[in-house]
Amino acid sequence: MSKRFYITTAIDYVNGQPHLGHAYEKVVADVIARAHRSLGEEVFFLTGLDEHGQKVQQAAQAEGKDPQAYCDELAAVWQEFVARLNVSNDDFIRTTQPRHKQVVQAMLAKLHRIGELYKAPYRGLYSPRQETFLTEKDRRPDGTFDPIYGEVFELIEDNWYFRMSRYQSWLIEHIETHPSFVQPDNRRNEVLGFLRAETLDDLCITRPKARLSWGIPLPFDPDYVTYVWFDALSNYFSVPTALGDPAGTEPLAGDYELPAAASAPPLLWPADVHLIGKDILKFHAVYWPIMLKACGIALPRQVLVHGWWQKDGAKMSKSTGNVVDPIAVTGDWGVDAFRYYVVRELDIGPDANWTDAGFQARYHAELANGLGNLVNRSLSMLRRYRGGAVPARSDELAPDAQSVAADAADAWRRHNLQRALIRTWDLVTRANQFVDQTAPFKLAKDPAQSQRLDTVLYNLAEVCRVLAVLLWPFLPDAAARLYSQLGLSQAPDRIADAAWGGLPRGHRIGEPTPLFPRRDVQGPPR
Ligand code: MSP
Repeated sequence: MSKRFYITTAIDYVNGQPHLGHAYEKVVADVIARAHRSLGEEVFFLTGLDEHGQKVQQAAQAEGKDPQAYCDELAAVWQEFVARLNVSNDDFIRTTQPRHKQVVQAMLAKLHRIGELYKAPYRGLYSPRQETFLTEKDRRPDGTFDPIYGEVFELIEDNWYFRMSRYQSWLIEHIETHPSFVQPDNRRNEVLGFLRAETLDDLCITRPKARLSWGIPLPFDPDYVTYVWFDALSNYFSVPTALGDPAGTEPLAGDYELPAAASAPPLLWPADVHLIGKDILKFHAVYWPIMLKACGIALPRQVLVHGWWQKDGAKMSKSTGNVVDPIAVTGDWGVDAFRYYVVRELDIGPDANWTDAGFQARYHAELANGLGNLVNRSLSMLRRYRGGAVPARSDELAPDAQSVAADAADAWRRHNLQRALIRTWDLVTRANQFVDQTAPFKLAKDPAQSQRLDTVLYNLAEVCRVLAVLLWPFLPDAAARLYSQLGLSQAPDRIADAAWGGLPRGHRIGEPTPLFPRRDVQGPPR
């Protein structure tokens, strides 16, 4: 068995409801996962939830619930959310699962055994009301703290530290010699700039149980639980290890025993892509590689960093009501319209701004009038003029289709998703022009043009088929509906099927129905 292409998203904090940012990240990861599957690779796609830590403990307390029961309720909401977005994840990790906790404890046990951890006093400013440590930077200009913190005083408590600082020059060299480790380049430069300018401290990786109990117990000191970021980052590795991947179990040999030996474990580790937002770059590009290096575990191949969404030019915030509810949008416009807009609008890297007007403009111009109109008129004419039977093969649009398919596949491989959509729409535009130029409705009136009409109808139907294949990673539902309207029973999920000439002569297409119905701006679909 060969190693699978392994992609992950950040795991979301369970305290709260899913929003546009979470949906965006999952859709982007899903497009990449589906693209690799279409390219013929075996893929493993992991997403999930970050369930431990103070925020969750406090949120559960505020609702008078046991933290586990609180997480279980919300986990159902989040899993439903992922399903609604048509996300094709292979597994869903929750950090409260025993399979995860066992691996985290094994990593900690190993680090302890090999002398990478030490216990030392931590001295800091502490707010009992918020149960949090503060720093000098949290002071207001007049030197006081915000009243939400209540009384703030100096606290000294013992904690366990991870000897992270000793890996600083190794990490700089690793990032310098592996340019694709952090992408895009501006994020790579940001990490390098930080690592060159500042001295890394050792990382405090515990919290005393007396203060915070909702975490993974430290295997060698019962008074402590694990710092939530150490716990959360490890999810990417705990799942492959718990599934029996030798790249996970071997480095932990002696510290970890696989509960039930998997007969043919998937080969997943190292991860190929960790997709994350820009706010959590330091955790993924500094802490995580050092944790792995110290444990003797191979490093992931890439941390891929996306930008943040705003709405109407302002930060999204529940308190001001300035939010986009992805579930409402998918309910209203369809999941593919949502997927299309977020991937087409925002390249992986920069920030973006959601406006309802921008969303609707793309829906109408690109989905309804561009793609939808092409498919609908092409298939309707084939039914009207040829009873739905595909004419003999013709290669007039083959060069356009093949050049777009090659560029799109290349863009998929480079995870340049916006570029792939732009090129795919070049084919939509070309085929719509072809309809206008050849005017099949006129040809149909002239029996002498019957052969020309055959040629035009073949090219249009075949372009629609190729488009379904190119659209599948992005718009899986529309692509499947398009294939079924073409009378094809398989899924358009193999890029190899984008080769020209797939529709055989005499094949009967199905019933065309609008893929993306035109709509009045406020009203229901027409
Ligand atoms: N639990 C941590 C991640 C641990 S990963 C080992 C966390 N959770 S989060 O729920 O706050 O964020 C999850 C992901 O959503 C992050 O990658 C974050 O960048 C992303 N986004 C949150 N808000 C966003 C936008 N407004 N726009 C785009 N992505 C955003 O951080």
